[in-house]
Amino acid sequence: MPALVLIGAQWGDEGKGKATDQLGGSVDHVVKFNGGNNAGHTVVIGNETYALHLLPSGILSPGCTPVIANGVVIDLGVLFQEIDGLEARGIDTSKLVVSADAHVIASYNRILDKVTERFLGSRKIGTTGRGIGPTYADKMNRLGIRVQDLFDEKILRAKVEGALELKNQVLVKVYNRKAVTVESVVEDLLSYVDRLRPMVRDTGLLLSNALDEGKTVLLEGGQATLLDVDHGTYPFVTSSNATAGGACTGSGIPPNRIDQVIAVVKAYTTRVGEGPFPTELHDADGERLRANGHEYGTTTGRPRRCGWYDAVIARYAARVNGVTDFVLTKLDVLTGWEKIPVCVAYEVDGKRFDEMPMTQTDFHHATPVYEYFDGWTEDITTARTFDDLPKNAQLYIRALEEMSGAPFSSVGVGPDREQTLELRPLL
Ligand code: GDP
Ligand code: IMO
Ligand code: MG
Repeated sequence: MPALVLIGAQWGDEGKGKATDQLGGSVDHVVKFNGGNNAGHTVVIGNETYALHLLPSGILSPGCTPVIANGVVIDLGVLFQEIDGLEARGIDTSKLVVSADAHVIASYNRILDKVTERFLGSRKIGTTGRGIGPTYADKMNRLGIRVQDLFDEKILRAKVEGALELKNQVLVKVYNRKAVTVESVVEDLLSYVDRLRPMVRDTGLLLSNALDEGKTVLLEGGQATLLDVDHGTYPFVTSSNATAGGACTGSGIPPNRIDQVIAVVKAYTTRVGEGPFPTELHDADGERLRANGHEYGTTTGRPRRCGWYDAVIARYAARVNGVTDFVLTKLDVLTGWEKIPVCVAYEVDGKRFDEMPMTQTDFHHATPVYEYFDGWTEDITTARTFDDLPKNAQLYIRALEEMSGAPFSSVGVGPDREQTLELRPLL
């Protein structure tokens, strides 16, 4: 039985939370495989709005087992805050399981994330300041603290001591900050261990057994293709693999068990933080997209940078992830424009690029080649089938589909669960 991957096609905030929530009722497990509480997924169910950061969006579907897999970095304080917040609203979180191999975000990594950004000045990445980058760096440096380390105080203490030996030198001598004590870190991490212990599993084995039993597993990516540390706009990326390949390493599910890769793509483009963005608008159209689309970060509240749809990026996402289906979101936000530009290629120093340029230098210099589509003025938020849409909205969807490299399975016309038009069934 199938494992499905759901990822973002652009720079994040495409509406992955809503899409996952919609599939949650039909799948047995929803697995977060990368990132941490840098993610922010807003899910609207009737009058209730939920903002999820660390928990997989499947937590909102009763019957579904939410899994935080090995590829995630966990801020334990945030985890329990989020659990308590949902429980207080009547959401049952008791099925949640957490990988013994996932890394935990220690206080010194939150501090280092923030001071490094300040130190970088104009070269900053614009991170969420949650300690994500330094925690993944520790993982690669083999200095990381894993969930299972919390079960052996002696090991935990030794690892924290090892990590702090160098970090305190850097904090004090380079950044002029106070040293962090081993005791404070160990104490903080151990304060969660009793609550954490019953949730911890060998999640790779659990998921493999689930697939053997014919269960359906949905692997939900945080961030997105162009924020992927290998395939994104490096160095303006996050520190994990947010593309479909990351779903395998981040969960322990092998590639040959994955049958479907769903990419969520907005009908325009947004980006939070620094880095190149060819279709970015610095004018009234950009302001209008931000206002109509409520484009303010779920995690940090920062205004999102806004621009037109970029088909070069969509095709790149289709290729890098092996996309089988695109879920198009936020079409309703484009209502009211007379003409809607779509970037079909780039021009760099007089040369046309139909694919992503090989170098970041070229990408930084890319200017969009636009095609213009006729807009519509009718309110589409009450549409429930493709046929309910005005002709020009239908033509816009079909044109994007044609140039994006994979079929569109649904179209979002509002934030609510109900505000989705199905073009072809996903499962
Ligand atoms: P994620 O990080 O990919 O899960 O996306 P976010 O939740 O950060 O941002 C997407 C925002 O758009 C959320 O506030 C959603 O409620 C909202 N949203 C999702 N789909 C649609 C849609 O089709 N139309 C509108 N207007 N809003 C949507
Ligand atoms: P979701 O899952 C949008 C961006 C940050 C910054 C860069 C690195 O909601 O789509 P980090 O804190 O990860 O080291 O920051 O990545 N970023 C996101 N942008 N949506 C996200 O998640 C993001 N997670 C990280 O703004 O530019
Ligand atoms: Mg988001």
